[in-house]
Amino acid sequence: FHEEGQNPREGLVAVNLLFLGPPGSGKGTQAVRLSEQLGMMHLSTGDILREAVKNGTELGKQAEGFMKRGELVPDDVMIGLIEDRLGDGGLNKGFILDGFPRTLPQAESLRGMFGRHDVSLDKAVLFSVSEDEIVRRLSGRWYCPRCNAGYNYPAAVPRVEGQCDHDGSALRRRPDDDEAVVRNRLEVYKKQTRPIEDFYREESILTVVEAEQTPDDVYRALLAAIGRQN
Ligand code: AP5
Repeated sequence: FHEEGQNPREGLVAVNLLFLGPPGSGKGTQAVRLSEQLGMMHLSTGDILREAVKNGTELGKQAEGFMKRGELVPDDVMIGLIEDRLGDGGLNKGFILDGFPRTLPQAESLRGMFGRHDVSLDKAVLFSVSEDEIVRRLSGRWYCPRCNAGYNYPAAVPRVEGQCDHDGSALRRRPDDDEAVVRNRLEVYKKQTRPIEDFYREESILTVVEAEQTPDDVYRALLAAIGRQN
């Protein structure tokens, strides 16, 4: 690992971030945009797990039941997965960890991994959104199973009802976006993930982004929170 690599896209010092926040707070949306703009690595544990479930791998078989119920995949599985991915290198351009850590043991092991590899975290960004807005966003979310394009009713609807604009595939919903499962994911967040907000607050790297605004406004707030100009 190299803590302060030059970012090839902008010639800026790389920034190492993790994104925290309840389901549907916009972590993935903003991580894709920021990582593309700054040329950083984006590591989403949710995306990695969904891909594993789709491909029927051993990891996918271990994770599927937990994900469907809106529960967390066990710490040992997740910590092993992140160790493998971070050990692959590629962190010198800066990175965003999206969806990890989610429990105190995960946060502690991440601190250990960073210590062993001489990497430091610049900011833990917390996306703040109300529960009503979360339920609204997740009940309106659809995606294309072929190209992964995302849609959201009523803000971003496909041109033809139920079909992907890019390849015409029938759109689907994530099984864990069912309202009862969303409520469970919110409870799990409060019980198991919220304590790590304090973990990073105590390290003085927690920064809160008001995420109940348009995606463009959230992006501007995010850039300000990490000290980058738009
Ligand atoms: P994961 O995929 O990480 O799910 P999540 O944290 O619940 O997050 P989401 O992907 O639902 O939301 P998001 O905050 O990324 O918002 P998004 O940008 O998509 O994890 C899924 C499961 O995997 C977990 O439940 C668990 O089982 C397992 N897992 C993952 N990591 C784990 C770990 N570390 N340990 C254990 N288990 C783990 O936006 C949501 C919607 O809102 C989209 O439709 C989007 O278009 C829309 N939207 C975004 N921003 C805005 C805005 N500003 N205004 C209006 N709409 C918006």
